[in-house]
Amino acid sequence: MKIESLSCAALLSFSFFIGDLTAFSSLEDEYTPRYCLQLEAAYGKGMMSEGGSEGIEFMFDQIPLNHKVALDIGSGLGGVAFYLAETYSMRITGLEVNPWMIAEAQKQTPAHLSEQVDFLLSTSNSHWPIPDENYDIIYSKGVLTHLENKNELLQECHRLLKKDGIFVITDWLSAETKQWGENISKLIELEHLALFPESKSGYLELLQKNGFTLLSVRDDSLAYLRFNKAICERLQAAMLTRTLSDIFEEKELQASIDGYQSIAKALEMGELKVFRFVVQKDF
Ligand SMILES: C[S@@+](CC[C@H](N)C(=O)[O-])C[C@H]1O[C@@H](n2cnc3c(N)ncnc32)[C@H](O)[C@@H]1O
Repeated sequence: MKIESLSCAALLSFSFFIGDLTAFSSLEDEYTPRYCLQLEAAYGKGMMSEGGSEGIEFMFDQIPLNHKVALDIGSGLGGVAFYLAETYSMRITGLEVNPWMIAEAQKQTPAHLSEQVDFLLSTSNSHWPIPDENYDIIYSKGVLTHLENKNELLQECHRLLKKDGIFVITDWLSAETKQWGENISKLIELEHLALFPESKSGYLELLQKNGFTLLSVRDDSLAYLRFNKAICERLQAAMLTRTLSDIFEEKELQASIDGYQSIAKALEMGELKVFRFVVQKDF
């Protein structure tokens, strides 16, 4: 059965026997509906990571996308999938651990993209109900840092990627010490985030161990510093004009600005890195 043909209810019931929901309960706690609205205020409609459309174009720079079939791991509110489906006529399945985010992404899917984009609930990092070698492109933007153990998911991506397919990951990394510095540690504590530190060399090892050949690795930290500074400026302007008072209490908005400033500082100091990895399956 093709996954695209399953209804949301079927996927929900099916997913209950493909995985252990308890493993993901902390993520559901982390991304509450209100928190997501606040993230959208910072990142843009449908987006839960930095850079908006510029960030998406930057992530896929030099990668042929037209008419490709793709899997979006950690699709959030669907903004990346909508942009790519619209701009490059792609067919995309978004995979997400958060049931209400799937419902929200489905609700927000523009009518003219409804044949191209669908969303699938995952409660496990493996055994997704998708045939082998199904995708030209698998991608993940700002997600894998949430996984303490990435092996299972990487193996599952290996199974699902076509022989000549491309896997693109943009993720938050720590310095080579595999420890978060002061600024990200503070952010994790204040916002109760589940973010696990992995270094560039650790990531390369993981990819190699799970059967991928590196095509390119790029340090995107400077671009992400610029994206985070722009978010701070936008939120500071909203603080002055009170334009976001329906979704942020003043204290919350200030805390959010502090958070993005911590991210910018961590990027400036090299405590936080953002890398893009482009890989293919080993032959
Ligand atoms: C920072 S948001 C990024 C969302 C989206 N990629 C974007 O750029 O807008 C991280 C997302 O990953 C999801 N997530 C975390 N762990 C996951 C997993 N193991 N499988 C699928 N999704 C996951 C979260 O629920 C959240 O929606």
